[in-house]
Amino acid sequence: MIYNLLFRFVLQRMDAEAAHRCAGRVLGATFAIPGVRRLASWLLRPRDRVLETAALGCTFATPLGVAAGMDKDGSWFGNLLALGFGFVEVGTVTSLPQPGNMTPRIFRFPAAKALVNSMGFPNPGAETVAARLGHRRPGVVGANIGKTKALAIEDVVDDYRCSARVLAGSCDYLVVNVSSPNTPGLLAMQDVARLRELLLGIKEELATTTQPPPLLIKLGPDLADQEIDELAKLALDLKLDGIVAINTSIDVSFLGSSAADSGAVPPGGISGAPLRFRAREVLRRIRATVGDELVLISVGGIDSAEEAWERILAGATLVQAYSAFVYGGPLWAYKVNKGLRSRTLQVGASRIQDLVGTGSPTSVLDRQSIAQGDHPPPTRGAGPEPASAGPGTKRQASM
Ligand SMILES: Cc1cc2nc3c(=O)[nH]c(=O)nc-3n(C[C@H](O)[C@H](O)[C@H](O)COP(=O)(O)O)c2cc1C
Repeated sequence: MIYNLLFRFVLQRMDAEAAHRCAGRVLGATFAIPGVRRLASWLLRPRDRVLETAALGCTFATPLGVAAGMDKDGSWFGNLLALGFGFVEVGTVTSLPQPGNMTPRIFRFPAAKALVNSMGFPNPGAETVAARLGHRRPGVVGANIGKTKALAIEDVVDDYRCSARVLAGSCDYLVVNVSSPNTPGLLAMQDVARLRELLLGIKEELATTTQPPPLLIKLGPDLADQEIDELAKLALDLKLDGIVAINTSIDVSFLGSSAADSGAVPPGGISGAPLRFRAREVLRRIRATVGDELVLISVGGIDSAEEAWERILAGATLVQAYSAFVYGGPLWAYKVNKGLRSRTLQVGASRIQDLVGTGSPTSVLDRQSIAQGDHPPPTRGAGPEPASAGPGTKRQASM
């Protein structure tokens, strides 16, 4: 309740990025008081092994993590872990430092529990982030890498190879992000042939490092269903370790036709509750293709223990959130963990990991979406212009 009031009367009146920075600083200052971070961690992190999940060669205290974009520069993952998250995906990090796009570049849509961002990967560069992550981390920390804006698209493979090499020894897993809409030319890297070349280059680079981390790709929601299937097959074929799905969307119809028609939606990627249905759908498709051979991290519209639970039953070993944490506040992870724990025990299981993929993905998720009054987005059939297959209004994200 205190956070709700603070959000409504203070944070929501500030520029969204300034509020984000302010929240990070307040948390940092509070946790810098001797003993406070340790106490918070003791109170908020799961204390038994019900939620413990083994995946990607790591042990996660809970399958709930922080999605990429929250800690872009590796400066507050320790504090986020202390709030009860099982892991943090730092980044997106690029090989060279860059300032990102013009501000303002994060916009709130509180009624829809959504955000729109056009950040463009502001970050201090792979070398600095690797130094911050170091070798001793208080929990599982992934690194998410992307394209450096200033480099030409022809240099994209070398660009990612460089970031992968620099970060390999400083993260627990590495995600190749080809799905953020705010970097020119990046979405085109989701083309199967181009992505194959990119991933082979990164794998080759990682093979030269002493500790190659597990390698995953992050896919976007605006792909056609058939493209999702092909990319899932590619991940299997290249023996990747997992898939993170989904990133933000540039389809304004996710925010409803009136917002789309009125032009009230700034350019950028949409995240939050409106993505829920598409994220479920993409998870279902990928799981149908890869089974339990790859680790699936489901992200997009996860705003409650119920939603996280359903994703796990539908085949996600791990789940992540960004927008719901912004709207939910510092105790959000604690609440979701509590809900996941009680659901696990209620069905007679002792470990949540034993339940991954045991639900009937179709029936469980569909029943839920109908009950919640979700409106499925337009069908994304394969076509010459796949991402615009439905009536959703598409526009270019800001560069
Ligand atoms: C402000 C903001 C910045 C983001 N930055 C990144 C990023 O740098 N890299 C990335 O892969 N995803 C980024 N994302 C996408 C999230 O990781 C996540 O995929 C998406 O927001 C859907 O999850 P949600 O509905 O829980 O927010 C960002 C999202 C937001 C809202």
